Amino acid sequence: MEIKVIAGDIAQVEADAIVVSLFEGVEEINGATASVDKALDGVIGGLIRRGEMKGKLGEVGIVHTLDKLSAGLVAVAGLGKPQDFNLDRLRQAAGEFCRSLRKLNCRKIATILHGAGSGEITLEASAEAITEGSLLGLYNFQKYKKSEYEDVEELLLVEENESELPNLEEGIRKGSVMAEAAAQARDMVNEPASYMTPSRMAGIARELSAKYNLECAVFDSGDMESMGMGALLGVARGSNESPKLIILRYRGDEEANKAVGFVGKGVTFDSGGISIKPSEGMEEMKDDMAGGAAVMMAVDAIAQLKPRVNITAVIPATENLPSGTALKPGDVLRAMNDKTVEVISTDAEGRLILADALSYAVKEGLSPLIDLATLTGACRVALGTGYSGAFSNNQELVTKVLQAAAKAGEKLWQMPLPQEYREMNKSQIADIKNVGNRYGGAITAALFLSEFVADVPWVHIDIAGTASSGKEKGYTTKGATGVGVRTLAELALSLAGDI
Ligand code: BES
Ligand code: ZN
Ligand code: ZN
Repeated sequence: MEIKVIAGDIAQVEADAIVVSLFEGVEEINGATASVDKALDGVIGGLIRRGEMKGKLGEVGIVHTLDKLSAGLVAVAGLGKPQDFNLDRLRQAAGEFCRSLRKLNCRKIATILHGAGSGEITLEASAEAITEGSLLGLYNFQKYKKSEYEDVEELLLVEENESELPNLEEGIRKGSVMAEAAAQARDMVNEPASYMTPSRMAGIARELSAKYNLECAVFDSGDMESMGMGALLGVARGSNESPKLIILRYRGDEEANKAVGFVGKGVTFDSGGISIKPSEGMEEMKDDMAGGAAVMMAVDAIAQLKPRVNITAVIPATENLPSGTALKPGDVLRAMNDKTVEVISTDAEGRLILADALSYAVKEGLSPLIDLATLTGACRVALGTGYSGAFSNNQELVTKVLQAAAKAGEKLWQMPLPQEYREMNKSQIADIKNVGNRYGGAITAALFLSEFVADVPWVHIDIAGTASSGKEKGYTTKGATGVGVRTLAELALSLAGDI
């Protein structure tokens, strides 16, 4: 879909549909909505008076113009209560009105810059949010099944004041970069595991490096052997697919030799290994590389937005399968930082591969470190499917990450990292074991990871609950969400010149 800006009056624009909006609880309509209402002899006012439309967030009222306007349809987008309005609610409203209009076969949609001027929201920010919300809300994965609906071809952002158009274009540019990067992460996660193998992930990293002139290195099992990555190799042992440790480097600050590390779990299929998972729902475990995909595509966005900061992405990629060569419960592995790990469950494989990836990142001198992982079912139990969990050894850093997430509209909740729980990870025969006890599973998993970051400031984000969605809502579509991409890209923008 192409997104363009034009100067003019929305009521006169030629399109299949024009979009105006309504705040909840506001009885007197105004602005563009009022002028369109006038042209339609008060039809929108009537909808409100009769209670057919309330302006609730996500609500979309459709009115046929019966040739009173050049556009065939008017969509009235509900924006929710004015006091609750923010950029993320605008993204959500945009996702909803775009999907509703696609269902009505609209190919060309024109919209006003909803909410601009209210509170802190500038025209540029409104353009950016509408761009993100519409691109992500219209996302569908069509590789194996064609969509029921034709694609929307064009979205016009209509602004009266011509001198604002360059600002709007800037908003569209940033919004498109963010949304397209998140959509590419969705594509990677939606692919079946037999397609999205560690080697394919490495291939995608190489493509990114060629496209944006980034440094890329891909280590295979021989390299892992020489680097002492016994934990990652242990998990990979059960599979015939060769594991890859993928490194992508973006250099936005040539003068600094420091780089921030983004580490993403890349388990391309998690069967549980010998500690095999129940078969029901196991197909979901193709999502277990969502952290890796998010980290890679955050680099894609960053390479286009060009903040002055260096970022190195580290993605340990492997399958977790049972076989005659697979890791067994009770085995002891030696990670790259020389710590020994007793494997209690081969299904707690994410922390094993991250142990080596984080050790590698520390050895490379990357700082601070942010890791993203579909790590624990316990995190999904604790926070549900709306929030990711953040765990950190550094309050200042996690505060920045929470702010970046808020900016991106990706819900993130800080969880505790209590030192007294470390005891639960103690092993009889090794330095640490890979499973705690019955309770606090998301915390003991995070504490396990903390053993591999030395004293580097670090945030772990558990996205087990948020990496994929069972329902379509706002700009979230069914399947992969692309969570983390926009948070990490926002974080890189906020860290520019800061480290
Ligand atoms: N990939 C899973 C975590 C997961 C669960 C992600 C549900 C998305 C949805 C992870 O590797 C895993 O299996 N974790 C175990 C850990 C347990 C064995 C300590 C879990 O959460 O059950
Ligand atoms: Zn697992
Ligand atoms: Zn897993």
